[in-house]
Amino acid sequence: MKPLIIANWKSNPDSFSKAKELFSQIPKKENVIICPPNIYFSLGGNVNLGSQNCFFQSGAFTGEISPEMLKSLKINYVILGHSERRNYFEETNELISKKVKACLKENLKIILCVGEKKGESLSSVLKKQLSSFQKGVFAVAYEPVWAIGTGQACKSEEAEKALKLIKKKVNCKVLYGGSVNGSNFKDYLKVGFDGVLVGGASLKIKEFKKML
Ligand code: PGA
Repeated sequence: MKPLIIANWKSNPDSFSKAKELFSQIPKKENVIICPPNIYFSLGGNVNLGSQNCFFQSGAFTGEISPEMLKSLKINYVILGHSERRNYFEETNELISKKVKACLKENLKIILCVGEKKGESLSSVLKKQLSSFQKGVFAVAYEPVWAIGTGQACKSEEAEKALKLIKKKVNCKVLYGGSVNGSNFKDYLKVGFDGVLVGGASLKIKEFKKML
């Protein structure tokens, strides 16, 4: 199985035309999944698409989208528990667990993000955050918060320790994320990660193509 490359565009790019241009340069590959802002889904053509988040039900929940909606649009992947959701939008492990359950019901492929902040104990953070894991979750992405968007990627030997801890607790693919770029991504595959979750570097097409 080829390593998974999952692109998290976050709240980028800032216009429909830029998103169209970016999509036009991404070749369809089985192991590549693009998670754009949801309003750009229609531009995705035949690439594999994922959502960066979703709520746990349809109904009177202004501004939210549900697993059923994703399913109906053939958006097969969903990222849950990203540290930006946890930190800026105060998502708790309880809420993330509800989302995991609801997405599993719709057979969505869940990428559950976990990771410690600087100074936090890795094992106790993993213990708490992996409480949201359920059988059927597609992948866990280990993303140390201090490595996200900082250009200071976690050394692969360090990340390998987290990989081993995660593999001991759960049975699914494990990805690394946090300042992954066209030069360092191979280091994570070498130590045993099943793929990478890429933020900033997925918006720079030259850089991203190095991984593809
Ligand atoms: P980054 O983001 O690659 O820009 O560090 C990764 C992520 O947040 O998933």
